This record gives sequence, C-alpha cells and structure tokens, in this order.
Amino acid sequence: MFNSSNDTNNNTGGIASFLKLKWRSSTKYNMKPRLPNTADDIERDWVRHNALRLAFENDFKAPIERLLQAGGSEVLDIGCGAGFWTADMAARFPFSYFIGIDIDKNVLPTSPCGRNILHQRIDLIELPLPYEDATFDYIFVRSMLNTMPDQLWDDVLKEFIRIMKKGAYIECVEAYDDLFDAGPSMNTLTQLVLMSTQQPPYSPTSKDVAARNPWPNRLANINQLMGMQIYHTHTPVGHHGGEIGSLLLEYWERTIGNYRREWITNRWIEEEELDKTIRQMREEVNEYNTYMSWYSVVARKKGYKGPILQFDDVDDDDTVITTKCC
Ligand SMILES: C[S@@+](CC[C@H](N)C(=O)[O-])C[C@H]1O[C@@H](n2cnc3c(N)ncnc32)[C@H](O)[C@@H]1O
Repeated sequence: MFNSSNDTNNNTGGIASFLKLKWRSSTKYNMKPRLPNTADDIERDWVRHNALRLAFENDFKAPIERLLQAGGSEVLDIGCGAGFWTADMAARFPFSYFIGIDIDKNVLPTSPCGRNILHQRIDLIELPLPYEDATFDYIFVRSMLNTMPDQLWDDVLKEFIRIMKKGAYIECVEAYDDLFDAGPSMNTLTQLVLMSTQQPPYSPTSKDVAARNPWPNRLANINQLMGMQIYHTHTPVGHHGGEIGSLLLEYWERTIGNYRREWITNRWIEEEELDKTIRQMREEVNEYNTYMSWYSVVARKKGYKGPILQFDDVDDDDTVITTKCC
C-alpha cells in the first residue's frame, strides 16, 4: 500500500511559490513558462477523456485488468490533471490503489474521491519521485508529451522504471499531431496549435513523425523494458463521425479557443481571419471526413519471476474457465 504521509494536497505554497516554479521551469530548462490549468483546460481534458474511452473502447490497453480486479495493485497516473482517468479507474477497480500526481495543485480534486485514490502535487522535474523502489504495478502517462522538453523525459523515464515493480506495466497514450484528411482551414489551425504547444525549439513544418511522437523509441531504448506493444486508434473529427467525432470537434474548438488570445496578440493571425477560418473548419471536417490518430505504447519491466496468477471465471453455462495472467 502506498504511504499517504506523502500527501501534498495541502501544499500551502501559494502564488509566490508558483511564480518561483514558473521562473525555474522557464530558464533553467529552457522551457516555455508553464501556466496553471484554467477551467477551459479542465473542460477540454474532460471532453478528450470521454472521446478516448469510446475510441479505445476501454480506459487502458495494458493487460492488467485481471490484476486490478484481483486487488492490491498500485497504479500511478502521471500528470493526472483533474483526475478523470484516476477516478474512473478507482471506481472500476475498488480493491486496487490509485495515485494521481500533477504539478498544478489547483487542478487536483479537493474533495475526497474514494478510499482507494490519493492525489499529490508533484513536479516530475523534481526527481527523485517520493516513492520507494518497486512500488507500482502500472504507470499511466497520457497527453504529457508536450509538457517537458525531450531531454528531460529520459531521466523521468528512468525514474519510472525505478519505482515500477518487476513485471509492472507502463502505458503512454498520445495523439499524433497531424490531422488526417484535413482541409486547408484545419491545417492552418493545427499549425498554429503546434506553434503554441511545442517546447522550443519547435519545428511546425517538420514531417518527422518519429521526432514528434517519440514514446515508442523512448521505451524501446530502455533495456529494462520488454514486450513493447503499440495500439492505434483512428477517430473522426466532426459531426460526420457520430459521438466521438462531435466530442473531438468540441475538443479542437476548445483547444483553438484556449490559444486564440496568444495568436492574436503575437499577430500570428488577425482576429477576423481566425474567426472565418474556424467557421470554415467546422464545415470542412465533414466535407473532408477529417480524422485524427492516437497511439498507446505498452511495455513491461523485466525480471518478474514470481508465480503466474490464475483467475477463474464462470461463463453462462456455469463452466469454470481458468486463465493464467502474465
Ligand atoms: C494535457 S494535461 C493531461 C491530463 C491527463 N493526463 C489526461 O489525459 O486527461 C497535462 C497535465 O500535466 C501536468 N503537468 C505539466 N507539467 C508537469 C510536471 N512537470 N509535473 C507534473 N505534472 C505536470 C499539467 O498540470 C496538466 O494537468
């Protein structure tokens, strides 16, 4: 069981410590200043969370369902934001334990979410993480790629390996930056989003997909991991794509809405031109059948030599089916 004495939900650092953090992040590591999550960010994350559950037909791809059901497993959700994934998982697997960590204490849920959930304010850059070696059975990392420059991820991943048990899984879920079959208006808007989201040095015109979606290479280069699997899902954007498509159109509109001030202030686009482009984009996505793609990379830490767990299921004919796990 994790040690709840590490709970930093009650951090009282306030605005002064946040500003210090912002300063440190932006100069020492050549990072863009990281702004706290706004209510818009949280709503956008909620829309994307719901779209992804439908798209992947589950909350995760790692083969850990039976272990989580059996209970006693410990799970870490990295950059959990408002904790939508953590909350869903903790409700679904009440006998396993879930920790959601995020740098932004204001985004973390403040009211108790369940006896098997803990939220902690933790900055991934502040290594080591406050967990013993071999604590977790599963680490989940979603939509975190653009939160740190590339060179910092190597150390953070090493730290994840340290706190994973032998045989534990890590899963990284991300969207490909490009939209497919996008019309000219959507292309203009996604290039602007890229300019806003990529850590410097960014290259909005780069076609190097591996460089922009590096999770598979990063995990493949870690020799303590094995059995890497990559899952893809392709999701429509726009009302042509039913519920998922409508959610993802809303996700894009919210993303664009979040950045519009920055684009106009920086004179990347005139306000009138932006509004016209957004209106055209809404039509275009249906006309072009625009879609986007997501991937989930799953790998397992080497070295598990324990017993293979067996689970019994009873099917509709009362037949007991025994399956082995791991
Ligand atoms: C795009 S949101 C993803 C939220 C969640 N994983 C999801 O899929 O809905 C990125 C989150 O990472 C957090 N974050 C950014 N930098 C971080 C850091 N250095 N340490 C911990 N969390 C960080 C942000 O506060 C934000 O909540």
